[in-house]
Amino acid sequence: MNRILKLVGILHVLLIQCAFASKPVLVDQPDSVYLFSYGANNPSVGLQFAWSPDKKNWNLIGGGNGFLRSDYGPGGSQKKMFNPFVIFGADKMWHCIWSLNATEQIYAHAASENLIDWNRQSYPAVSKGQNFLRPGIKFDLNQKNYLVTYTDAKGKFFAVETKDFKRNDRGREISAEDYIPSVDVNLPSSKVSGQIHRVKWAVVDRLIKAYELRNFKNIAKEETTQQDAYRFAGLKPIEAKFTVNAENAKPISNTLIGIFFEDLNYAADGGLYAELIQNRDFEYDLHDKFGSDKSWTRSHSWTSAGVGVSFTIDSIAPVHPNNLHYAVLKTSANGGSLINSGFDGIALKKGEKYNFSLFAKLLDKGKGNLKVRLIGNNGDVFGETIIAVASGPWRNSKAVLTSNATVTDAKLELQAIQAGRLAIDMVSLFPRDTYKGRTNGLRADLAKTIADIHPRFVRFPGGCLAHGDGLNNIYRWKNTIGPLEARKPQRNIWHYHQSVGLGYFEYFQFCEDIGAEPVPVVAAGVSCQNSRDGGNGQQGGIPMEQMDEYVQDIIDLVEWANGDVNTKWGKIRAQAGHPKPFNLKYIGVGNEDLITDIFEERFTMIVNALKKAHPEIIVIGTAGPSFEGTDYREGWDVASRLKIPIVDEHYYNKAGWFINNQDFYDSYDRSKPKVYLGEYAATVPGQGANFESALSEAIYLTSLERNADVVSMSSYAPLLAKEGHTQWNPDMIYFNNTEVRLTAAYQVQKLYGQNSGDQYLPASVTLSNSQDAVKKRVAISVVRDSKSKDLIIKLVNLLPVAVKALTDFKNITPLGEKITKTVLQGQLTDKNILPAVAEAPLAEINSTELPPYSFTILRVKTK
Ligand code: AHR
Repeated sequence: MNRILKLVGILHVLLIQCAFASKPVLVDQPDSVYLFSYGANNPSVGLQFAWSPDKKNWNLIGGGNGFLRSDYGPGGSQKKMFNPFVIFGADKMWHCIWSLNATEQIYAHAASENLIDWNRQSYPAVSKGQNFLRPGIKFDLNQKNYLVTYTDAKGKFFAVETKDFKRNDRGREISAEDYIPSVDVNLPSSKVSGQIHRVKWAVVDRLIKAYELRNFKNIAKEETTQQDAYRFAGLKPIEAKFTVNAENAKPISNTLIGIFFEDLNYAADGGLYAELIQNRDFEYDLHDKFGSDKSWTRSHSWTSAGVGVSFTIDSIAPVHPNNLHYAVLKTSANGGSLINSGFDGIALKKGEKYNFSLFAKLLDKGKGNLKVRLIGNNGDVFGETIIAVASGPWRNSKAVLTSNATVTDAKLELQAIQAGRLAIDMVSLFPRDTYKGRTNGLRADLAKTIADIHPRFVRFPGGCLAHGDGLNNIYRWKNTIGPLEARKPQRNIWHYHQSVGLGYFEYFQFCEDIGAEPVPVVAAGVSCQNSRDGGNGQQGGIPMEQMDEYVQDIIDLVEWANGDVNTKWGKIRAQAGHPKPFNLKYIGVGNEDLITDIFEERFTMIVNALKKAHPEIIVIGTAGPSFEGTDYREGWDVASRLKIPIVDEHYYNKAGWFINNQDFYDSYDRSKPKVYLGEYAATVPGQGANFESALSEAIYLTSLERNADVVSMSSYAPLLAKEGHTQWNPDMIYFNNTEVRLTAAYQVQKLYGQNSGDQYLPASVTLSNSQDAVKKRVAISVVRDSKSKDLIIKLVNLLPVAVKALTDFKNITPLGEKITKTVLQGQLTDKNILPAVAEAPLAEINSTELPPYSFTILRVKTK
């Protein structure tokens, strides 16, 4: 093990030298060489290069990694590059086109200045041929356009002409002689078809260096504390001297810490949304899970019991057209019943009241009664009541049940007292004790856990959920407000079902209840770039003829949230019980979108319409799913061009990345839009999330506070996960029906949320050991909260040795003799960990000991 660590260390140093040597000394550096471009055997890997001095002896570049990957369609089944063809164009750009699949009459194109950074991809359609295979390109000097040739499955040859790789003209069949072929080359590994280019050595040199730098970064990312015994062998306790001068204070965002809520991992239905009945609307559908779970049908979670009882699903004359299906309980004798098993059972608390409601009608003429019971497995009855039912229109009935026991696995039984046919829909059971006692409200313990973070904003409803799987699955806020039976439930992109009982009204209400700004995210007129339901990825946006209506929905959202009660949408909000405006300030447009022309066109429409109708709204743009790459660059370009105030960045990464990238925003261009780090989380390779990854988040957050003049918001992701129903790991808060488990990441978020400020006091730092790896693992962040006048000092020590923190404060007058000291410390592998909070003498702000691997916060009142 030690030898491996040593080797990693040596390689690390070598790579640092490779990547950062100011001028590599190249003996007999060639002027020009041959560069061969070709596609990887595995089409998901993408574009490859090799170089040769003589066209015979080829050297592979990039260790098998692709320099350009296809973004078309959903990952897995698509995102493949077949037979790439590269040329150096008349515009002095490299152009690559490739075939995407065996079925469609389209191809892909991307351009690059250096073969490393590729611009956005386009997917132009052709009209001739069965499909588009084995392309070739050349530039036609006379026509001043590109000639693209290809074959199809029938072996015919075709050509189109294009100036921009967006529109194709003059599609036609051509003879085999006019087809532009690739050439075969014997690489060390195999014979491959591609293109040979004569290039300056610098082109190859850059490709090699780009690959080496990528390697270097990958190694840095893999750093964990397991290597500390080697990395810090013989390290003595460190002395860290900090100087903080209040005169250098700068204003920072007071909305830095927020939360991102997405209905993922049963976060809403079965989670934060306190409804206890699963599939209350009988709308679960096999398609929610693409048919992979045969039990996921309209009757999921429901069973019937009793002699001569049957239970069917019908859709004639539903409660509401948005809620098409309902159950019909047919009983030939008294006592037949329909039973719901809840989400992993129904948890009840002794003495607690539960609000029950349903829509019902007898399908045979007459009147009758329905017994509603909370039952156990052994004939136990924990509570019961009787409601009247009758033929005629649907009737909404309500009742209250009080539980006589505390149990975790109760069921709800609806027992027909008389024989006949009873139609039933929207069966609901809510604890009375929801967060802040709201009807149709939220689970109190979970909501309180979230509120304890003291988030300044809530981003919702996703994530991927916001832009949906395919255009029909885009989250439309208007479908999520109003009476529950009129809301439009739909498939959840995370392969389950959204009742949308937790809809926009409830999200806004929750924000108000916890004192957080609502940050709704709307799709940018495109669905998820990995969409596989009803189309290929994000290549089709909402058709332009429907965009006006879509844009109007977004404008209406502002009126619904902020308009007075006399406006159309303000009135609807008031009717729902909130006459006062919600004071919406932000709207996120887009989420991790593929930045294509289709995206830009629609995004621009939405942004311009919002600017015009509601210049007061702060629009948050999007920059892809990573901290680098095409979508990141292009997303930022679009946002900067449109002068979007804030851009949403996402990066899930390894703890080593967060430790090694604390300078990510230090040299950030302050004239550009501000940043919302909307989704991030660290993991330790092979271990997932634990105290070690949380410490790397804590240290990274010191750098966000340092840069909170430009990083105005941040939120860890994902927030919630129900045990046994988790599609994404790690998450910040785990729960089951009765318990909430707080992770180390939660504690870090909570400590930052509860200890944030609106002024940053820069600190100069001198460490007794100036090793780079040491410097990166000791961090300080000093902020002041102008309301409380508290000075808050955050200190992170990610070293295996103690650090003595000696801080000299200038122009600060502390008050009192005591401070509050909070220390988060434990085993690095701990998943759950609690901070220790205690009073400490005032002198500790000047001299305190930071235990190995710890996060300390000192909070002191000032004058
Ligand atoms: O947080 C989980 C998912 O991660 C989000 O839905 C999406 O935006 C990102 O890919």
